[in-house]
Amino acid sequence: MKIAASILNCNFLKLAEELKKVQACGIDAIHLDVMDGHFVPNLSFGVPILKAIRPIVKVPIYTHLMVFYPEKMINSFIEDSDGVIFHYEATKKHNECIRMIKEQGKFTGMALNPKTPIDIVDKYLKYLDEVLIMSVQPGFGGQKFISQSLDRIRRLKELINQRNSKTLIGVDGGISPENACMVKDAGADILVAGTAIFHSTNYKQTVKKLKCLTL
Ligand code: DX5
Ligand code: ZN
Repeated sequence: MKIAASILNCNFLKLAEELKKVQACGIDAIHLDVMDGHFVPNLSFGVPILKAIRPIVKVPIYTHLMVFYPEKMINSFIEDSDGVIFHYEATKKHNECIRMIKEQGKFTGMALNPKTPIDIVDKYLKYLDEVLIMSVQPGFGGQKFISQSLDRIRRLKELINQRNSKTLIGVDGGISPENACMVKDAGADILVAGTAIFHSTNYKQTVKKLKCLTL
């Protein structure tokens, strides 16, 4: 299973150091939470931060666009991202967003808020590299994992198996050493973790636990 570290709750006064430190702990990707203050009630960071970290991030950077009308933003982020994940609820132009990301050869993801029915992704599975299941209401790090997410992961896994799809299941929000293995067993392929890593005293130990490598 893969771990994507969300930097939303890292120590921004030591951003370069945090990125070097967390990459040395075996994470598989950096997850960049871009928020517009409208689609979610929070404003985070944008292209300048992505461009600043790109030279020192040797793992893939997946940009999570929590913005309305992502079709207007994808091109600004795509060059320095290895993948872009947009929200189903944030646009009516789902096919255009998918096309914009795929035609650049980038990892293409669609995120679903906790109340969005899983089955709406069925018709997009053949085009998506990942469906990101939000296990918190998007907008902030450090929230509690919504336990109903486990059934949503199982339902998505069922759909993917029925369609013989290769789409990966990402889960984002409230992931911790306490729930990571349960989320993995429900069918997750990629766990996004922020606070659990950056607010821990031992990043390496935490990442090992998130990967279910220790009892
Ligand atoms: C929330 C973001 C998540 C969040 C994860 O809107 O999409 O990526 O930052 O952080 P934790 O792991 O602290 O819930
Ligand atoms: Zn995220």
